[in-house]
Amino acid sequence: MMFDMYTHFPCGRVRIVMESALTARDRVGVQDFVLLEKYNSEAALIENLRRRFGENLIYTYIGSVLVSVNPYKELEMYSKQQMERYRGVSFYEISPHIYALSDNTYRAMRTERKDQCIMISGESGAGKTEASKKILLYYTVTCPINEHMATLGDRLLQSNPVLEAFGNAKTFRNDNSSRFGKYMDVQFDFRGAPVGGHILNYLLEKSRVVHQNHGERNFHIFYQLLDGGDDDLLTTLALERNPQSYNYLVKVCVCVCVCVCVCVCGINRGIICNSLVQGNCPRLSSVSDKNNWKVVMKALSVIGFTEEEVQKLLDIIASVLHLGNTQFGEGEEGETYITTETQITHLAKMISPLNFEQAMSARDALAKAVYGRTFTWLVEKINQSLALKEEIYHSGKGCTVIGLLDIYGFEVLQHNSFEQFCINYCNEKLQQLFIELTLRSEQEEYETEGIAWETVQYIDNKIICDLIEEKHKGIISILDEECLRPGETCDVSFLEKLEDTLGGHPHFVTHKLANGKTRRVMSREEFRLLHYAGEVNYNVNGFLDKNNDLLNRNLKEVMCQSDNQILCHCFRREEVIHQKRPEMAATQFKNSLMKLMEILMSKEPSYVRCIKPNDAKQPGRFDEVLVRHQVKYLGLMENLRVRRAGFAYRRCFEAFLQRYKPLCPETWPNWHGRLADGVSTLVNHLGYKAEEYKLGRSKIFIRFPKTLFSTEDALQAKKPEIVITIQSAWRGMKARRRAKRRRQAAELIRKLIKGFIYRHEEYCPENEYFLDHVRCSFLKNLRKNLPKSVLDQNWPTPPPSLVETSDHLRRLHMRNMVMKYCRRVQPEWKKQMMQKVIASEIFKDQKDSYPQGVGRLFLDSRLEREQINLKVVQTLGNDKVQYGVSVVKYDRRGFKPRPRQLLLTNTFAVLVERTKIKQRVDYTALRGISVSSLSDGMFVLHMPNEDNKQKGDVVLHCDHVIELVTKLAMMAGKVNYVNVSPGSIRFVLARGKEGIIDFVRGSELKVAKGKRGHLLVVSLF
Ligand SMILES: Nc1ncnc2c1ncn2[C@@H]1O[C@H](COP(=O)(O)OP(=O)(O)OP(=O)(O)O)[C@@H](O)[C@H]1O
Ligand SMILES: [Mg+2]
Repeated sequence: MMFDMYTHFPCGRVRIVMESALTARDRVGVQDFVLLEKYNSEAALIENLRRRFGENLIYTYIGSVLVSVNPYKELEMYSKQQMERYRGVSFYEISPHIYALSDNTYRAMRTERKDQCIMISGESGAGKTEASKKILLYYTVTCPINEHMATLGDRLLQSNPVLEAFGNAKTFRNDNSSRFGKYMDVQFDFRGAPVGGHILNYLLEKSRVVHQNHGERNFHIFYQLLDGGDDDLLTTLALERNPQSYNYLVKVCVCVCVCVCVCVCGINRGIICNSLVQGNCPRLSSVSDKNNWKVVMKALSVIGFTEEEVQKLLDIIASVLHLGNTQFGEGEEGETYITTETQITHLAKMISPLNFEQAMSARDALAKAVYGRTFTWLVEKINQSLALKEEIYHSGKGCTVIGLLDIYGFEVLQHNSFEQFCINYCNEKLQQLFIELTLRSEQEEYETEGIAWETVQYIDNKIICDLIEEKHKGIISILDEECLRPGETCDVSFLEKLEDTLGGHPHFVTHKLANGKTRRVMSREEFRLLHYAGEVNYNVNGFLDKNNDLLNRNLKEVMCQSDNQILCHCFRREEVIHQKRPEMAATQFKNSLMKLMEILMSKEPSYVRCIKPNDAKQPGRFDEVLVRHQVKYLGLMENLRVRRAGFAYRRCFEAFLQRYKPLCPETWPNWHGRLADGVSTLVNHLGYKAEEYKLGRSKIFIRFPKTLFSTEDALQAKKPEIVITIQSAWRGMKARRRAKRRRQAAELIRKLIKGFIYRHEEYCPENEYFLDHVRCSFLKNLRKNLPKSVLDQNWPTPPPSLVETSDHLRRLHMRNMVMKYCRRVQPEWKKQMMQKVIASEIFKDQKDSYPQGVGRLFLDSRLEREQINLKVVQTLGNDKVQYGVSVVKYDRRGFKPRPRQLLLTNTFAVLVERTKIKQRVDYTALRGISVSSLSDGMFVLHMPNEDNKQKGDVVLHCDHVIELVTKLAMMAGKVNYVNVSPGSIRFVLARGKEGIIDFVRGSELKVAKGKRGHLLVVSLF
């Protein structure tokens, strides 16, 4: 070991720790290919893959690219606990895993708020779809949940079995091969919860509906329906359970179909069949169609398909099978008729002008169109179910996206047709993007960082992409032209055109253009492309038809009229009316790929490169030749070389310093200078030699893996020491904090005690804390215990120094409460209050009946309008009656009681006997009002007595004496003239004589003439 840091540790122990770590790592190869010593050797790379594969370690990194080898068996590494292990953990700290990549991408999206995409590539059967499912599962399990979209996770996951049922099939290479390309966006809200999803699908291999190679199958859904659908369903759909009954599933083929599958590198992979039947593989040992049927039906309902929609969908699937069984006969004059009885009797009419072969192909075209368009409808439906809800979209917080690309892998068969051409073109484009984003950008990084380095050569496949897609000169343009050209065109004329235009291109050969050796392995109908992944011969038969993708117009019309809503949706009337030709299939595909490239370019990419270990789909078998080929065309060696050519590892200064700063006393615990200086100090201390590393503008580049290993090991060895240091620092800090708190507490107690002793002294240093504390406590306590109403008399007792303040506060508070109360008082209530206040001024503590009288509501009048005689009202004229009450008048002589009404106007009062005003009392003339102090209703109005003509004072009784006297006193302005007399009231009789009313308490209420000519009033006790 080469580090100075050794001198800082107890040497032997560290060495043992480090070496054992290294051995452990070596035993299962390296986790990251960049750490391979022989990084230039393909054999070493494959050996590393093999060793790890043998230990079930199927994942390995090349820097940030994840290489995955299909184990072909269930491994115990995808549990929830495993997910938790990888959550929030740095890439480097834990063994490679698809979850680590998922988590890293998710965190990058959240921290940088930038859209991400994960591109999964590899050949058919390498495990792309499985990887994409694992990533999706990781997100749905570990991410937070948005309460508006709680079921989204389920729907995202359930979209897989549905799409697989309709878009996957058993092929020679893979029992569950995706026959369409899929790009899925998962949208996350600002909290990182999944809130939406969107799927883009690419070019479904429709030809599979009507034809499959021997040993392959049609799309899974057909077999699932026949195996899993219950008897009633099959009866409704008029289907038989046996797949052998359906030509599209196991048809006796008219043509001889030879399917020899040959590996890309030219090695026969061993399956050869010369057979008269196509497909003929109704059952799969690896999957249960019955169980999958249940899964798919459940998934459809989770996603939100109605029962009716499911029924219509199955109607379509069944009708495709029926269509396949439609047989034709040829009439004497060459006309075609249907020999089988199916529900599609229309077909006869529609195809009648066609000859036998044309009729067959029209039927197949219809089956393909129906299935293909239904698949597109299915994806649309799923997208509706996953769509981001409006309110979340408009919440303004913005969503970020992780895209998952799982697209068909590079494919080479013995007989390669239009589909393989498109699939392989797609893979060329993805490879181009990969080169663009990794190899080139890697080299650019050195330039930006100002690091001198030697450029690494890599296969740039731009030339092949151009060969296929260039305008006017590319294969797709030539194909389109040939389809549109008037006159006799056929597949062979297309081939000739290719030869004319592309002859001499280094990546293009035909039988005619080839040398003798190549000619021997090519038929006359083939052209060969030198793909980045190897040579592929394409047979031009069917290219024009498939590119045209035409469907008989009559058939389209019938489809438009279908009462199956799905078909109506798929076959639009406008399509029949507007005869504008749609784009050719290859051009459509090219355009959709361009869009896909744009989408991918706009995101931060991560890569999963899948490798298939053997062709037999068997666990534990590692076929080196097969793997070597994939390693080659996936460009793993170039990838590794570029990563290693300069430097095995790079880290930005901050991250490097943050991680390794404990290894150097100057950088530990914190470095305060420039980051670059910190890193430089650190590596100098560690004894890095000049050739081992370079400092860029923002990153350190480490050339050899061992350097990084040793640093990492040193960090591991240092950790216990760091832990102890941190622990002791933390404990010390806690203890100091506790001691400080105790000191402060003791000081406080001391101050309070002293203050208490001096509390009666003037404000002085000895008692200031105590007094302040007492004042403060009083005010705080007061704040919590302020009286809530004016009647509440409670008030905390203030300390002596705050007595005056407390009084002020109390008044202020009271005034405040009163003000608040008054603001709330209604005008009606205010009037009532004013009268009561006057009543209290007159009678409070003076008259026994006061509490009872004041407690009642003072009415505006005790007489109804109609109780006052109209004549009286007329006599009073403009003087409106303000208050009226029934009273009893006692005659001056004899004290005879007479019932009267007493009416008060603004300026006088009148005594009324029915219709007659008996007496008028002007307020100005009123000398006073007397009442007794007991609880009787007697009162006397004292009148002027200078004049002998006067009748004398008026003696009256009223049940509402408190109310009446208050109102009268207020109206007359004689509040101060009310006299409450205890014992007796003297009053003046006519002509100056005096009368007396005596008041006594008794057990019986009574008003009567007394012995001495007095009026005696007995009030109750
Ligand atoms: N990680 C894995 N663990 C267990 N089995 C796996 C794993 N990855 C793949 N397989 C097995 O390999 C089979 C093929 O994988 P998958 O369907 O993902 O291939 P693919 O790359 O998508 O192929 P195609 O391009 O044909 O769609 C799976 O059905 C499964 O049996
Ligand atoms: Mg797949």
